[in-house]
Amino acid sequence: MAKVKKTYVCSNCGHVSAQWLGQCPACKHWNSFEEEVPVVAVDLKGQARPAVAGGEAMLLSSVSTEEGERLHTGISELDRVLGGGLVKGSLILLAGDPGIGKSTLTMQLCAQIRVSGAVLYISGEESKGQIRNRAERLKTLDANIHLLTETDLSKIDAAIRRMRPALIVLDSIQTVYDGAVSSAPGSVTQLRQVATFALNWAKGLGIATVLIGHVTKEGAVAGPRVLEHMVDAVLYFEGDRQSNHRMLRAFKNRFGSTNEIGIFDMQSDGLVAVENPSALFLSERGDAVPGSSVTAVVEGCRPILVEVQALVAPTVFAKPYRSATGADYSRLSMLLAVLEKRLGLRLGNQDVYVNIAGGLDVDAPSADLAIAMAILSAYHDRPLPEDMVFLGEIGLTGEVRRVPQLDRALEEAKHLGFGRALVPAQHNANTSGMTLLGIKQLTEAVHILGGHA
Ligand code: TYD
Ligand code: MG
Repeated sequence: MAKVKKTYVCSNCGHVSAQWLGQCPACKHWNSFEEEVPVVAVDLKGQARPAVAGGEAMLLSSVSTEEGERLHTGISELDRVLGGGLVKGSLILLAGDPGIGKSTLTMQLCAQIRVSGAVLYISGEESKGQIRNRAERLKTLDANIHLLTETDLSKIDAAIRRMRPALIVLDSIQTVYDGAVSSAPGSVTQLRQVATFALNWAKGLGIATVLIGHVTKEGAVAGPRVLEHMVDAVLYFEGDRQSNHRMLRAFKNRFGSTNEIGIFDMQSDGLVAVENPSALFLSERGDAVPGSSVTAVVEGCRPILVEVQALVAPTVFAKPYRSATGADYSRLSMLLAVLEKRLGLRLGNQDVYVNIAGGLDVDAPSADLAIAMAILSAYHDRPLPEDMVFLGEIGLTGEVRRVPQLDRALEEAKHLGFGRALVPAQHNANTSGMTLLGIKQLTEAVHILGGHA
């Protein structure tokens, strides 16, 4: 018998190698390699195999169009991220840090979705009592949810085939194992095995299936990234543990755009969809203080206003410190260089901190102007006008460039009571009811600070 060749796979990103490696060359994680156990030995010597039925090709045009049948989840922000609802027979991976609210969101989904058929919630993580407690808290006890606490994949599979539910939630993929595979639950081999079964439930039986996966640190348990290619959509549930805001983002979506984000607020009785995120993100903004500016980011087709905060303080180190939270670090470095060179700011001995309040990640260049203005305001210790938003990309010569979807952003700003906007001179916006101040160069913006900056 031919010797089975061992392969090793990175549990973080799925990179495959012929030998064990301490650090993954692809994702740079340490100690993430594990041996991959072949599940089915395939004889590749080219012998004729026994004839099997099936495998007939058909004309593409004769395939019926069943896509588009979507189940509304009853949770507006989730529908938005899914691209208008949960597609029947789709396989979704919901990933996030432990404790972020994945079980809560899926329990609420189970309770609110309207499907013709049973809803099955499978948990390998918590006891029936714990799940009941959560359901009580969420006031979803009277919903028609079937519960199965099981970790053995073959038993789960048998239950599903018996029951034929319309929706399955598997919480979590890392706790379930197939006895036919010798590796531990949570290993790459087990994860792929569970996902293969789930693919069958979704595609074979036509059941919408949601897999919950934990994102874990340093390869302790295999991460959801090794499953990305097997599923229809990967949703990341993220947020700051310190705040109650949670964000749902599609990393991959075969049935919709990956630009949309869903925003939730974690309250004592569950997650509440936030339909007006701008008001939420600006709610903690104080009176006019130095180092604060407001910009709008357009996520998908939704504009969201965010506050940019900057702090400039003398450094105590040999080399000044720069920090960007929620903003792009290399963009910050570029903006600092432009401010030094074109506006003559002396930042060589100053630490600079930039923070996007509320935990949103802003990497669109349209936030450049707001970031630069917040830094300028912090540097001179003068506040910016409270009723002004800032939108524009900044180029290397200090020129202020046009940004996409400016109208949308301005409409949102107007809606929230902003009366003025600093925008690129060559804008093509026609928002009425707002004063637009067009500038070509960042240098023209200095007078906004008032006085003699
Ligand atoms: P959970 O859904 O169990 O997280 P995950 O499945 O991602 O590990 O939620 C965990 C946190 O959410 C927990 O710390 C308590 C909090 N929570 C609320 O604030 N309100 C609620 O109604 C519920 C159910 C949980
Ligand atoms: Mg959980």
